[in-house]
Amino acid sequence: MALPGLDGDHPLVLAPLEDITDGPFRRLARRHGADLVFSEFVSAEGLVHGAAKSFAKLRILPAEHPIAIQVFGSRIDSVVAAARLAQQAEPEIVDLNFGCPARKVAGKGGGAGLLRTPDLLEEMARAVVAAVDLPVTAKVRLGWDMGTINVLDVAARLERAGVAAITVHARTRCQRFRGTADWSWIARVKRAVSLPVIGNGDVREPADAERMFRETGCDAVMIGRGAMGNPWIFARTRHYLRTGVSPPPPSYAERVAVMLVHLREAAEEKGERRAVIEMRKHYRGYLKHLPGAARLRAALMTPESIAAVVRVLADGEAVQETRDGDS
Ligand SMILES: Cc1cc2nc3c(=O)[nH]c(=O)nc-3n(C[C@H](O)[C@H](O)[C@H](O)COP(=O)(O)O)c2cc1C
Repeated sequence: MALPGLDGDHPLVLAPLEDITDGPFRRLARRHGADLVFSEFVSAEGLVHGAAKSFAKLRILPAEHPIAIQVFGSRIDSVVAAARLAQQAEPEIVDLNFGCPARKVAGKGGGAGLLRTPDLLEEMARAVVAAVDLPVTAKVRLGWDMGTINVLDVAARLERAGVAAITVHARTRCQRFRGTADWSWIARVKRAVSLPVIGNGDVREPADAERMFRETGCDAVMIGRGAMGNPWIFARTRHYLRTGVSPPPPSYAERVAVMLVHLREAAEEKGERRAVIEMRKHYRGYLKHLPGAARLRAALMTPESIAAVVRVLADGEAVQETRDGDS
């Protein structure tokens, strides 16, 4: 079965990123060429207990489709109920998180903690597949630690449970985000199951995505940290896949234009002050590799209104122009 967003040639996917892949950023990623986007993970317990913060994460605007909503939890009944609630938001896919390494999640038996209880993981996946009418996918890591890599067993179980695709973040739980993702496991999972496999881990540049497709045979490439403050990565990668040429990174003016769209759309959803403050975590990505970026980023940590941000960015333009003129 062709999955929405994964049915084209070499699909590129925006990873689920807590506090990053909210609605405004997902829309930017889609506009810049992501074929499928993931929500931040949503707590099953939060949804079951009616937490406003969790329900806010189910809000989807038309420009975000196709989208997968990801839920996490350690109890089958809660995750099933949460998946049903997620379904009401009308995403294309419901995704199960079997990879979160955080102590507050994995330590309580959810996220990557489920890799240590494969029977429970399989039962949970089967129960969710039976409970919702949408395709259900799962995102896993290689295992808990290097000594207990069990991704091939987990992938076979997920296939038996009826999931529609698997994302493999090619690290163990104990690696968290350190070290290098071992893509050879993505290739092994791909050979072991007949489901679409989404490869994930350490794709930072267009050429990395091409290499992941080539070396692993994966059906889609998912980009996480490489997309933070960098929605252009999707269109640039598409261009690279078609031509073998990496387009230049966006100019300062292009970055500012997109940052301001991001900020204004976030302000519409969350209110101006909150949007301006939350935007601070995106500037590192948006300003990466630009001359004077550190100073500009520091200057962006104080404004509390969009107008003040615009003024700082305009001053930044003067810096960029001087530097360009100098070089
Ligand atoms: C800030 C941050 C938040 C993340 N939040 C989630 C999440 O909510 N759900 C999930 O499955 N993975 C989450 N991840 C993991 C990413 O989706 C991805 O698997 C990981 O970063 C490796 O891919 P990358 O090298 O392209 O970043 C998060 C990672 C980061 C850095």
